[in-house]
Amino acid sequence: MTPHAILTIARRTLVAGAALVLAVPLTASAAAATLGAAAAQTNRYFGAAIAAGRMNDSTYMTILNREFNQVTAENEMKWDATEPSRGSFNYNNANRIVNHAISRGMIIRGHALLWHQQMPGWAQGLSGSTLRSAMINHVTQVATYFRGKIHSWDVVNEAFADGNGGGRRQSSLQATGNDWIEAAFRAARAADPGAKLCYNDYNTDGINAKSTGIYNMVRDFKQRGVPIDCVGFQSHLTNSAPSDYQANLQRFADLGVDVQITELDISGSNQANAYATVTRACLAVARCNGITVWGIRDSDSWRTGANPLLFDSSGNKKAAYTSVLNALNAATPSPTPTPTPTPTPTPTPTPTPTPTPTPTPNPGGPCRVAYSVNPWNTGYTAAIIVTNTGSSALNGWALAFTLPSGQTITGGWNAAYTGSSGQITARNLSYNNAIPAGGSVEFGFQATHTGNTAAPTSFTLNGSTCTTA
Ligand code: XIL
Repeated sequence: MTPHAILTIARRTLVAGAALVLAVPLTASAAAATLGAAAAQTNRYFGAAIAAGRMNDSTYMTILNREFNQVTAENEMKWDATEPSRGSFNYNNANRIVNHAISRGMIIRGHALLWHQQMPGWAQGLSGSTLRSAMINHVTQVATYFRGKIHSWDVVNEAFADGNGGGRRQSSLQATGNDWIEAAFRAARAADPGAKLCYNDYNTDGINAKSTGIYNMVRDFKQRGVPIDCVGFQSHLTNSAPSDYQANLQRFADLGVDVQITELDISGSNQANAYATVTRACLAVARCNGITVWGIRDSDSWRTGANPLLFDSSGNKKAAYTSVLNALNAATPSPTPTPTPTPTPTPTPTPTPTPTPTPTPNPGGPCRVAYSVNPWNTGYTAAIIVTNTGSSALNGWALAFTLPSGQTITGGWNAAYTGSSGQITARNLSYNNAIPAGGSVEFGFQATHTGNTAAPTSFTLNGSTCTTA
């Protein structure tokens, strides 16, 4: 059974001596066959961290291209890789990953602009205001270079301490002043207004002192208008997720940020169950955008010997893979079976008049728009997911809507915009022109506002009015 196949059930019923043929079309609940497609059914992504050095490995690339619709550079966007000497930037390896992702329509998580590890030697030798200006310059340069290509940036990685009651980690970055994190977020927003800006950390997978320290920071940032859009939960786990894993994701989401599972790998004999638990937790939290596993095959994992990934070293799917795929597919509501109509006895079958089809400008049929706004005092980012709910694929799309007054678009991603206030049209780019039947595209923009951050009241896709989710 192929996805979205139409199952036609023909029932022959003999009523009062007349043969009636009832054709009842039912949409089959076909399960998606890959992680990316299964996650896309609920408008989420499923990604992997990949290494430029493995991109010549055909087994690796076959799995990547088949299963995943998001990538993270495992090391290639870190400070030591992108700015090996001060003021001199090298994006060669990062670009191998970025270009491949774009050519395949995969979205990209940028990882990571600032981290106390994998700093280049020259930056390790700096401190105080010299380090502060070098790090802000680094954020500005790298985020500007990749502007428009990054779905979400880990602006700051691992800045909180373990076992310090929710306080910051000591580092040369922290020593430049407690406001270094917000300074980095502001610089990143200015450099790439279209990217979601995340704080990312580990040992934050349940409600504990460390995650609560981060929670308090995010709440404070939201209250003061520091631009933060998302929190990444690395989720390097052994055997199980904390029992309050979902509750922890939800409490962050309730602060008005997205949550993302950014570096998932799980070792131990309960691996398959634990993967399903984590997957279900993300699916249960509306603002959980997606899941990234930290590597493809066990042999690619940074946790040597732990075998914490979804594919074995030969590239075979493991039980954990099946458990994730099933969990993703289970989240899609299967269509309610259409009750068999009771035929009204008709002595003479009357030919049914053929209804005149209403001309619709969109041959792909109707659409659904999910529109979410992440505001701060003077601006917001809007994320738009358009789903093609028609029965045929769209090739080329344009979404038209009207922004409430006072709202002005200043930049966008994954779409080309006409107009900046009032009437807006967002059109596909070359890499996301096709929306298969049942498929979605995600794009967005950043805007300024004067107090009103309300969403547009209606959307039309290629001339057809969409429902709003
Ligand atoms: C790891 C990489 O996987 C390794 O190849 C590298 O040697 C060290 O870093 N948390 C993070 C990731 O945020 O960047 C780390 O990646 C794993 C832990």
